[in-house]
Amino acid sequence: MEISDKTAFITGGASGLGLATARNFVAAGANVFLYDLNSEALELAVAELGGNVKWHAGDVADEVAVKEAIEKALQAFGAIHINVNSAGIGGASRTVGRNGPMPLEKFEHIVRVNLIGTFNVLRLCAEVMQTNEPQTEDQERGVIVNVASIAAFDGQIGQAGYAASKGGIVAMTLPIARDLAKRGVRVMTVAPGVFETPLLASAPDEVKEPLIAITQFPKRLGNPEEFGEEVAHIVRCSYLNGEVIRLDAGIRMPAI
Ligand SMILES: NC(=O)c1ccc[n+]([C@@H]2O[C@H](COP(=O)([O-])OP(=O)(O)OC[C@H]3O[C@@H](n4cnc5c(N)ncnc54)[C@H](O)[C@@H]3O)[C@@H](O)[C@H]2O)c1
Repeated sequence: MEISDKTAFITGGASGLGLATARNFVAAGANVFLYDLNSEALELAVAELGGNVKWHAGDVADEVAVKEAIEKALQAFGAIHINVNSAGIGGASRTVGRNGPMPLEKFEHIVRVNLIGTFNVLRLCAEVMQTNEPQTEDQERGVIVNVASIAAFDGQIGQAGYAASKGGIVAMTLPIARDLAKRGVRVMTVAPGVFETPLLASAPDEVKEPLIAITQFPKRLGNPEEFGEEVAHIVRCSYLNGEVIRLDAGIRMPAI
C-alpha cells in the first residue's frame, strides 16, 4: 500500500521509534495521528512534524480513551489505513531477587501496557480499517505493524515480564493476520535490536560499547530512522503478512 495520502495511527508516537516512523510517514505525504501517554512530548512532536498531524493523550490499555482517539482521528482525516503500535515500557526485575519474588503487579503492568495495550489498539483500528475502500489491486484495506523486541527470543536476566509481553506480540501476529485476512488487513511485527532512542542516546559509552560489541554487522546501535524505513517498507510491500522481522544487525543477546 502506498503511504502518501493515507492516515496512520501511531501509538508511542511522541518518542523514539514511534516518532521516527511518524517523521518517515509525514515525509511520504501521509496524515499522522499520534497516541501517547505523554502530552508534553506529543505537543513537541506535533510542533516538529507540522503538516497533517493530530494527537490524543491516553493509555494504550484504556479502551475508552483509545476509542475517543480513533473517533478524533476519523473526524480529522476520515479513515485509518495504517496502525503502528510502538507504545511500550521496560521494567527489569528478577523472578526472585534480594527482596523476594518479583511483585506480581509489576509483571502485570508490563504485560498490560505492551501486550494487552497493543491488542486493544489494533483490534479497534482493524474494526475501522475493514470499512475502508480497497486501496490496492489486492483489495488491501489496512496494515498493522506491531513492535516486539529481540527480548521475545533472547530475553535476558530480569526480563521475564518484558520478554513475556513481547513474546505475546510475536505469538499473536500470525493468528491475527489469519483473523483479518478476509477483511483485507495485513499484520506484521518488527522485533528491534538495540536502537539509539532517547534512553540509550543519553547513556554513557560503558553502557553502549558492550552492546555494540555483540552486534555482528554493522557495529553500531540502530538508528531510529532505519526503523521508520523498515515500517514504511512493510506498509508498501503487500506480500508481507503474518511474520516477525528481527531488525538487529545480527545481535543475539547473552543472559546478562
Ligand atoms: N529502543 C530500543 O532499542 C528498542 C528495542 C526493542 C524494542 N523496543 C520497543 O520499541 C517500542 C518503542 O520504544 P522506544 O525506544 O521508542 O521508547 P520510548 O520510551 O522512546 O517511546 C515509547 C513511548 O511510548 C509511550 N507510552 C508508554 N506507555 C504508554 C501507554 N501505556 N500508553 C500510551 N503510550 C505509552 C511513552 O510515553 C513514549 O512516548 C517499545 O515498545 C519498546 O519496547 C525498543
